[in-house]
Amino acid sequence: MGESTSRIAVVGLSGSPSAASKSRGLVEHALAELAGRGAATELVDLATLPADALLGRGTAPALTAALAAVARARIVVAGTPVYRATYSGLLKVFVDLLPQDGLVGKIGVPLVTGHAAAHALSLDHGMRPLFASLGATVVASGVYATSAQFRDGAPGPEVLQAVERAVLEALALASATAN
Ligand SMILES: Cc1cc2nc3c(=O)[nH]c(=O)nc-3n(C[C@H](O)[C@H](O)[C@H](O)COP(=O)(O)O)c2cc1C
Repeated sequence: MGESTSRIAVVGLSGSPSAASKSRGLVEHALAELAGRGAATELVDLATLPADALLGRGTAPALTAALAAVARARIVVAGTPVYRATYSGLLKVFVDLLPQDGLVGKIGVPLVTGHAAAHALSLDHGMRPLFASLGATVVASGVYATSAQFRDGAPGPEVLQAVERAVLEALALASATAN
């Protein structure tokens, strides 16, 4: 474990409202991989945050803590299901609460699950511009996984490999670039 790696803070955002979420499983796998390489990881399940605060109708300590976790992080892993050919509304309302330069100097790792391959471009046409609009550098190897790539809710080996590749790239970018 490299010394610089041990100090890397990571936040994982889960943008699915589903209790048995495939995309949250991918975020958890990415966080476990990063923690295994010495990073300090934290999962923020956006579905647990108070809806009124997410919609800007007041504040809530849990939301303030989630925004602070993003501000602290060097790597932001964002998992979402494809909804209507793009990322979920839950992820959208959360990122709308970040400052405009809220991801400058951070590395973004997009993890997307969709029912079918037809909407795989939501990774490149939805998640990449979303990260870029906030100033993040996005890993080249984001992940899009279809329902057929899961067995009994668990991701298959090719999906896990893709997540690991994205994680390794994020760590390489974090050590190669200044914060
Ligand atoms: C409201 C809604 C909209 C969806 N829209 C799409 C879609 O446009 N394209 C697609 O491939 N799958 C779509 N799906 C399927 C989900 O993206 C898919 O089941 C995904 O794996 C769910 O991830 P999760 O388990 O993390 O919530 C949709 C599902 C819901 C509930």
